[in-house]
Amino acid sequence: MKKIVLLGYMGCGKSTIANNLSEKTNLPFLDLDHYIEETTKMSIKELFEKRGEVHFRKLEHDAFQTLLDEEKTIILGLGGGTPCYANNHEFLQRPDVVSIYLKASVATLFERLSRNKSKRPLIANLNDAELQEFIAKHLYDRSYYYNQAQHKISVDDKTVEETVESIAALLA
Ligand code: S3P
Repeated sequence: MKKIVLLGYMGCGKSTIANNLSEKTNLPFLDLDHYIEETTKMSIKELFEKRGEVHFRKLEHDAFQTLLDEEKTIILGLGGGTPCYANNHEFLQRPDVVSIYLKASVATLFERLSRNKSKRPLIANLNDAELQEFIAKHLYDRSYYYNQAQHKISVDDKTVEETVESIAALLA
């Protein structure tokens, strides 16, 4: 059973693209953050605040492994940090996984995240100048892990539909 795993930095469009791909392929979409929120009955923001990031990363690793080990074909959207902790990047190479890095530039990410950061604990308190610098450094640090994906698709200057078409072509 294949798992189609979408990964990339916060704001690259993982959930929107996964939802769209799910409609097109009729495969169920699971969002790793939502799965963790449902199983813990806490929001990601609360988990960071009350339990701390290290605990969140442990839950994230366990949830990722559990969902990959289920005998179901799914589209799985990771959190922006998932591939970068607990050797999760090794899962991206599993034979039952098709992993796709949705690659966005710092400019695209800044434009999207500056409007949409309140539920994201890592960036919620940054002003625009800090956010721009944070994304640039953080994306650089994380690129090694993101690049372990089997496929890379640039999402800059592409509509959601165009990106979904590119993914569907990869899966055909
Ligand atoms: C995180 C990204 C978030 C969420 C958590 C940590 C990160 O997911 O998992 O806030 O480390 O980049 P999204 O990429 O869906 O925002």
